[in-house]
Amino acid sequence: MKKLLIMLLLTLSFQTLATGDVEQGKIKSYTCTGCHGIKFYMNVYPTYHVPRLGGQNEAYIVSALNAYRSKERSHTTMQAQAGSLSDQDIADISAYFASLK
Ligand code: HEC
Repeated sequence: MKKLLIMLLLTLSFQTLATGDVEQGKIKSYTCTGCHGIKFYMNVYPTYHVPRLGGQNEAYIVSALNAYRSKERSHTTMQAQAGSLSDQDIADISAYFASLK
């Protein structure tokens, strides 16, 4: 039991270290919200659905961005978006979107 608790604590503190900065993410995600409009989740024009990011799981956003950046996941627009992001940018942006409700 004690061992389990220590493991849990270690995992939690590790996650805290790897977590991005919400405030930084807010600034860095400025361009993203043009498409990932948080309220209606639709692009203005042409009208197409853009996946919801606000409140999305942080780890999911990180892995999606990494997949676009490495071109593992195809979508020209998002590959271009993710292509210019650093690991820290991805962490910060993901933390920001995950913090939205
Ligand atoms: C020009 C419009 C546009 C911009 C700007 C844009 N995105 Fe996207 N994004 C999309 C579209 C469209 C999709 C859906 C792509 C697909 O089907 O794979 C998407 C998908 C995603 C996904 C995957 C969501 C899911 O549910 O799988 C993530 C994460 C994401 N975008 C993050 C970002 C971030 C972070 C930025 C800013 C750096 C950004 N996007 C900027 C249009 C945009």
